[in-house]
Amino acid sequence: MTNDKFEVLKTIISSRRSVGWAKMNGKIIPDETVNQLLSLAHWAPTHGRTEPWKFFVYGGEALKQFGKDHGDLYWDHTAEDKRQEATRDKLMHNVDLASHLVIAVMKRGENVKIPQVEEVAAASAAIQNILLGANALGIASFWSSGGMTHTHALKEYLKLGHDDIIMGLIFLGYTDESAKDGVRNSVIAEKVKWL
Ligand SMILES: Cc1cc2nc3c(=O)[nH]c(=O)nc-3n(C[C@H](O)[C@H](O)[C@H](O)COP(=O)(O)O)c2cc1C
Repeated sequence: MTNDKFEVLKTIISSRRSVGWAKMNGKIIPDETVNQLLSLAHWAPTHGRTEPWKFFVYGGEALKQFGKDHGDLYWDHTAEDKRQEATRDKLMHNVDLASHLVIAVMKRGENVKIPQVEEVAAASAAIQNILLGANALGIASFWSSGGMTHTHALKEYLKLGHDDIIMGLIFLGYTDESAKDGVRNSVIAEKVKWL
């Protein structure tokens, strides 16, 4: 059975690819368009309508400053015998070709009856909405958990609460590269058990 809406959605979902920050071209997305993408996050399902997300959006000078701060956070919170100039440099400059960076957070609310796993699930769905919207608009995106993503230092920098979780750094931009074919390690039927 074919259905136009389903086919459009399937194309948007299956053609979404991660485009690494090094493959972006520096072209700037209008802030209004970034807001349109974030408005898609709002429609993710949540148990108890907790809407457990917060997005820190960096563009322009703020983006450059974040890159610098990210490098500094890495440097200041990594043991002297472990830290490397090359890594610091990479963190400072991985924003150079992106248009915006969105730090996506699972923001724990008052309703502690909802298990943490469900709030993480809801925040993930919200992020996926952003990535799919980006793909539909021809915007490249990259969900990264690199650098200081999962550190207490970045949580402090963002003034997050103890139970909040940084879900990832979402790089947004444009690319000149043509879309890659998706690679998957399995076929979906292996992951599905019909009873
Ligand atoms: C929670 C999460 C964290 C990720 N972190 C990274 C990362 O740090 N570095 C990276 O290269 N890709 C990262 N990715 C992207 C995956 O590498 C990518 O989704 C996967 O290779 C499949 O490719 P596709 O997104 O183009 O389909 C992350 C994806 C998710 C969901």
